[in-house]
Amino acid sequence: MKSFDIKVKIHFGEKSLDRLAQLTYNRVLVIADPFVVSSGLIHHIDRRLQKAELEYKIFSDVVPDPPLEKITLGVVEVIEYKPECIIAVGGGSAIDSAKAIRSVAEKSGKLENKIDLIAIPTTSGTGSEVTSFAVVTDTENKTKIPLVSDEMLPQEAILDADLVTSVPPNITADTGMDVFTHALESYVSTESNEFTAALAEKAIEFVGAFLLRSYLDSNDYHARSKMHCASCLAGLAFNASNLGLNHGMAHQLGAFFHIPHGRANALLLPYIIEYNSNIDKRSRSQDNYPKQVKKFVTVARMLGLQNFNTITTISALVSWIRFMMVEMDMPHSISEIGCCTEQEYFAAIPDMAQAALEDSTTITNPRKPTKQDIEELYTKIW
Ligand SMILES: NC(=O)c1ccc[n+]([C@@H]2O[C@H](COP(=O)([O-])OP(=O)(O)OC[C@H]3O[C@@H](n4cnc5c(N)ncnc54)[C@H](O)[C@@H]3O)[C@@H](O)[C@H]2O)c1
Ligand SMILES: [Fe+2]
Repeated sequence: MKSFDIKVKIHFGEKSLDRLAQLTYNRVLVIADPFVVSSGLIHHIDRRLQKAELEYKIFSDVVPDPPLEKITLGVVEVIEYKPECIIAVGGGSAIDSAKAIRSVAEKSGKLENKIDLIAIPTTSGTGSEVTSFAVVTDTENKTKIPLVSDEMLPQEAILDADLVTSVPPNITADTGMDVFTHALESYVSTESNEFTAALAEKAIEFVGAFLLRSYLDSNDYHARSKMHCASCLAGLAFNASNLGLNHGMAHQLGAFFHIPHGRANALLLPYIIEYNSNIDKRSRSQDNYPKQVKKFVTVARMLGLQNFNTITTISALVSWIRFMMVEMDMPHSISEIGCCTEQEYFAAIPDMAQAALEDSTTITNPRKPTKQDIEELYTKIW
C-alpha cells in the first residue's frame, strides 16, 4: 500500500498575506531573515499582525545555512516568550531555523503547549514551507544535517509573490535551479509515484517557462508568482519522494565551502544526469534504457527539447541546464567560484564523498553510487 497526503494548508496568490490579519493567537514570535527586517519587507507582516490585534515579537538572529549555535539562541527565546505560534519569514534558512527551533523547544519539556508554525517564504527555492525537512549545519564538524520528521511540517504556508520581487538576479538563479533540482530528483527518485510525478512535472514546466523571465526582470510579477508556486509544488513532490545524489553531494559543498545551496546543485546537475543515465558523449544506442533515462527524456520533451534519439535527448537536457547557467551568469566549476584552493578542495573530497554517501537524500537516487563514483563526480566539477 502507498499513501500520499498534503498536511500543510497553503494560502497563495494576491493578498494571501491577509491571512495574517485573521489570526486569533494571543502571542506570536516572528522568526525573520535579517534582510526581511532591514529592507522593510517586514512591514507587510507587521501591518497585518497589528490588524489582528495580537502580541508579537520579532527574532531575526538567523543566518544562511543555519548553524546549531544560532538554533540554540532561538530556542532560548521561544522558551522565555512562550508563543502560541511561530511565523517564519525568509528564505529556506529562516524557515529551517524556525522548524528546528520549534522542534528543540518543544522537546525541552519547558513548554506546556505545542506551537503552531506558519511559513512565509521570501525566496522561490527550497519549498521548505511544505516539507518535513530542516537542514542545519554543524559548523565544527563541517556537516549539514537534514532533520527529517513530520513534526517539522508547518501548519500553514503563505505564498505571496510581493515578497520575492526584491530577490536579486544571482539569488533568483541559485534558488530557481534548486527548484529544478528538487523537481528532477523527485521525478527520478526510487520513491516517486503518480502523485509526486504530477507535482514535479508542473514544477518543471513552470521553471522552463518562468525562471529566465524572473531572472531578467525582477518585477515580472506573473513569472515571480509562477516560480513561487513551482518552488512549493517541487517541495510537495520531494517531501513524499525524497531527493537523490545531487542533493547528497550539494549538502557537503555547502558544509565544507559555504557554496550557496542552489548554486551547488546547479553545478552538479549536468554530471549527475549523465551519471544516473549512464550515458555520455561516447555512448552507443541501447535497446533498453533504465527507468530514469526514460524519465529524463520525458523531462526534456516537457522543456521543448525533443531530439533525435535517447542519447541526443539526454545530451539536450544537459545542454539546456548549461544554457540556463550561462544565461544567468552562474559559475560552471568550483574553481570559477574561487571559494578554496585546488589543494583544499581535493583534500576534502574523500570526506565529502563519505558524507554524501551517508546523506539521507542519497538513498533514493535511481543509481546506487559507490564512494569512488562520488569522488569522481566531485573531481569533475573542479
Ligand atoms: N527544508 C528543506 O526542505 C530544504 C530544501 C532545500 C534546501 N534547504 C536549505 O535551505 C537553505 C537555503 O535557502 P535559500 O536558498 O532560500 O536561501 P537563504 O534562505 O539562505 O537566503 C539566501 C539569501 O537571500 C536573502 N534573501 C531572502 N529573501 C530575500 C528577498 N525577498 N529579497 C532579497 N534577498 C533575500 C537572504 O537574506 C540570504 O542572504 C540551505 O540551508 C539549504 O540547505 C532546505
Ligand atoms: Fe534543495
